Amino acid sequence: MKIFLLGATGSTGYEVLKRLVQDNHTVKVLVRNRAKLNLAEVQQSVKGKVVLIEGSILESDKLKEHFKDSDLVISALGTGTNNDYTEIYSQGGRNILSAMRANQIRKLITITSGLIDMSDPSTDNFFLNRIIRPNFNKVYYDQTRWETILDETKDIDWICVRPPYLTNKGFTGKYRVQHKHCPKGGRKISRADLADFIIKQMNSSEYIHKKPVIAY
Ligand SMILES: NC(=O)c1ccc[n+]([C@@H]2O[C@H](COP(=O)([O-])OP(=O)(O)OC[C@H]3O[C@@H](n4cnc5c(N)ncnc54)[C@H](OP(=O)(O)O)[C@@H]3O)[C@@H](O)[C@H]2O)c1
Repeated sequence: MKIFLLGATGSTGYEVLKRLVQDNHTVKVLVRNRAKLNLAEVQQSVKGKVVLIEGSILESDKLKEHFKDSDLVISALGTGTNNDYTEIYSQGGRNILSAMRANQIRKLITITSGLIDMSDPSTDNFFLNRIIRPNFNKVYYDQTRWETILDETKDIDWICVRPPYLTNKGFTGKYRVQHKHCPKGGRKISRADLADFIIKQMNSSEYIHKKPVIAY
């Protein structure tokens, strides 16, 4: 398959990239700074191919050209630990959808966060409400705008993964999945397992137009 991957220099995106290359896919990645991507490590003893494009998700016109010949888009965009005002999810998301439509690409896998759903009883606690939510309020605000755009999008087969707290621990392949709300008692997931779930969604229709939360 020909995959377009966004956020490959980030911690989750890099895990996704490694899996895609291992599985022999051709991957085009859009990165802001090519020096941040250790391609030698990714391509060691693997069969897939990586095509690197430098740019930003906010450069909408160029994105249409970049997406040419791709079969599927995966977005692992994020802001790291930064909580400045951002539009990478909402405006970035609009740009993704419009470039997908221009290239007749049907499927999108994207990430927001389990914490943006205020109706989830699993995330209604003092620490998350008083510390984490206020500290990342601008990020969650833009992720919420992105999910609202997705809710109105019926012509694209999107899957919006909502992870809880992300760790850099290794792959286990053993996690629980629930639509919208975090599995009971689940608090975290490793980026390697998040990548595993994303890879599994490439050939599955189970969570199309859904917002699965994955956790141990
Ligand atoms: N951390 C958590 O505990 C947690 C919990 C729940 C959900 N999430 C969500 O999970 C997702 C993945 O998180 P992560 O920590 O693994 O990712 P991350 O390390 O923050 O990586 C974010 C990626 O997005 C790229 N990016 C940012 N702005 C861009 C732009 N304008 N154009 C192109 N690329 C851009 C970054 O590029 P650069 O390398 O150039 O900066 C980087 O590759 C995020 O959406 C995050 O909000 C995180």
